[in-house]
Amino acid sequence: MSDQAFVTLATNDLYGKGALVLGTSLRNHKTTRKLVVLVSPQVSNNMRAVLEQIFDEVILVDVLDSKDSAHLAMIKRPELGVTFTKLHCWALTHYSKCVFMDADTLVLCNIDELFEREELSAAPDPGWPDCFNTGVFVYRPSTETYNELLQYSTEKGSFDGGDQGLLNSFFSNWATADINKHLPFIYNLSSVAIYSYLPAFKQYGADSKVVHFLGKVKPWDYSYDPTTRCVTRDSDDYSTIMHPGFLNLWWDIFTTSVLPLLTEHGISKETSSGAQEEDKFSEAVSQLSITPPDEVVSSDERKKKWEQGQADYMGVDSFQNIQKKLDAYLN
Ligand code: UDP
Ligand code: GLC
Ligand code: MN
Repeated sequence: MSDQAFVTLATNDLYGKGALVLGTSLRNHKTTRKLVVLVSPQVSNNMRAVLEQIFDEVILVDVLDSKDSAHLAMIKRPELGVTFTKLHCWALTHYSKCVFMDADTLVLCNIDELFEREELSAAPDPGWPDCFNTGVFVYRPSTETYNELLQYSTEKGSFDGGDQGLLNSFFSNWATADINKHLPFIYNLSSVAIYSYLPAFKQYGADSKVVHFLGKVKPWDYSYDPTTRCVTRDSDDYSTIMHPGFLNLWWDIFTTSVLPLLTEHGISKETSSGAQEEDKFSEAVSQLSITPPDEVVSSDERKKKWEQGQADYMGVDSFQNIQKKLDAYLN
């Protein structure tokens, strides 16, 4: 078992927080594998010291950046060029097999069975299911593959400007070659799917094994009140709305297990970015909660919009309303 590892990546302290929650969740569920985090020089010494407490290895790597602003603009994530840094995971040849996990993922149970899979195993991407999502994948470290990937990245680049476009082109027969390399979606469940196919989430969501907070807004961008277990966001960008249950779980782990370590190492909790923004958020939320959900649920127009993938996330399809509906079903 000591030659197999879970591997994640953080190129700054914010993603470091994510890595700490992920690492803690793997430990809580008693993984028998090693935990490795790749960090770039931008990660502070204090953060590295905390990462050392959870991970078996904290490995310093240089940042690889696609600098492909044109393709990154298409996924509206200009900051993701640095996800090319993920490629360094193939250089960990002191392990025979690894599972890479994004720092914005969280495990809900033991997932060590993933090591029975072969390279390259991954779950479908919710946006284009013939592509795999690179938030969770099984691979074999290899100097040969590593060099080929680096060469591929300079010669061919990536169709989305990040590692996912690159890896899907490199492992190009994933969609059709071997069904054993298709991980069930519950190994990489993103909130996107909750909204795009709610009945499936209702049916299968309880079996989820890994949650992926995919998208621009991350759990650490929210504020949390541990006494009320209330999560709020200090901004008016509501483009990503997360499942409050999973978000609360992330914050629970963060507050209970990670924050004490950060405080011990002098990394203080950031203060919120402004009361004014917070007020706007509360106002928006209170407006949402007075929308009578049932009246709208029966609307044909809304149904049509849902089917066209145009849910009104900020209005009638806000998570609060969906949650009410879910609660009603479950009761
Ligand atoms: N990452 C990082 N620093 C960055 C951006 C990304 O370390 O500035 C790493 C981190 O492990 C992250 C992964 O690359 O989870 C992929 O990025 P992200 O999760 O933000 O992409 P998404 O899943 O939202 O598409
Ligand atoms: C995807 C993946 C992420 C990857 C990004 C850029 O959304 O979830 O892991 O870094 O695309 O390719
Ligand atoms: Mn991610």
